[in-house]
Amino acid sequence: MSRKDWKAENYYSKDFDWDQLREQVESDPYLQFHFLPFSSENVEAHQDDVVAWDEFHARHSTGKFFKERRYLFKEFPELASCKDNSKVLEVGCGNGSTALPILCGREGIILYACDCSSTAIERAKEIVIPAQIVPSRSIVHDSQSLNSSDEINALNPFCSDETKHCIGGVDFVTLIFTLSALPLNRMPKAITQCFSVLKPGGLLLFRDYGLYDMTMIRFEPEQRIGFREYLRSDGTRSYFFCLDTIRSLTTAAGFIELELEYCCVKSVNRRNGKIMKRVWVHGKFQKPT
Ligand SMILES: C[S@@+](CC[C@H](N)C(=O)[O-])C[C@H]1O[C@@H](n2cnc3c(N)ncnc32)[C@H](O)[C@@H]1O
Repeated sequence: MSRKDWKAENYYSKDFDWDQLREQVESDPYLQFHFLPFSSENVEAHQDDVVAWDEFHARHSTGKFFKERRYLFKEFPELASCKDNSKVLEVGCGNGSTALPILCGREGIILYACDCSSTAIERAKEIVIPAQIVPSRSIVHDSQSLNSSDEINALNPFCSDETKHCIGGVDFVTLIFTLSALPLNRMPKAITQCFSVLKPGGLLLFRDYGLYDMTMIRFEPEQRIGFREYLRSDGTRSYFFCLDTIRSLTTAAGFIELELEYCCVKSVNRRNGKIMKRVWVHGKFQKPT
């Protein structure tokens, strides 16, 4: 895809009422196991998560697993209207599903990306670099991970070694379907890292799985590894957010909340015609000036 071919998608986010879905799900006797409290927290080694994601990216080697997120400019119009040379850090870039539409949709943006998986970084390079109009403005890849031992070098804008690409801070951090991949107990630190890499006044653009999303309801009891936390069969994990969880995490890190809501989208399964109710959390948060 080149910048010329790129077209934003129409996007609707209010197809149904989230409270009605909540009532429906919470009153279903077959779904009660999802709401049981979890007494002991499952603290798995961080390395396991990284290995699981790396294997995931190696298996999906065509790099087409995640759909390009063409709705990004509708959800986050600041990306389109920002100044030339604005800096974006895409955290957990995967194969570039978010990085590519940003680069193709807005000339003059400088985009950095990181991921815990070195395989993902390689895929992103293969996909993103050939699509760019201005190679010198290209993605800078750091095979770094949120919460890793070298987290400060990865995300601190003032670090002084070779990973200093974000010196001075970035204007935007995009955290798109990445936070849910972390264990809940590591999320506060991850959000703090996002805060520290932003310039004063910079924005955290957030989107992730929302509570009672269809994919949460489909998990089996044995896949539950914590309250609202699940482990997929491939070893990657997924958390489902309510608005209050995101509000607490971002407020504790020092962010000002600008937007926070559920996006409720109905889509139809092409194979069986069934309606799928998708729930995502959309958020926009600012670092104080
Ligand atoms: C669902 S994918 C989202 C990819 C991309 N942001 C997008 O919009 O499609 C989640 C990504 O987060 C990465 N990830 C998981 N844990 C991470 C961590 N601790 N630090 C950085 N990236 C991580 C995974 O390798 C994966 O590429």
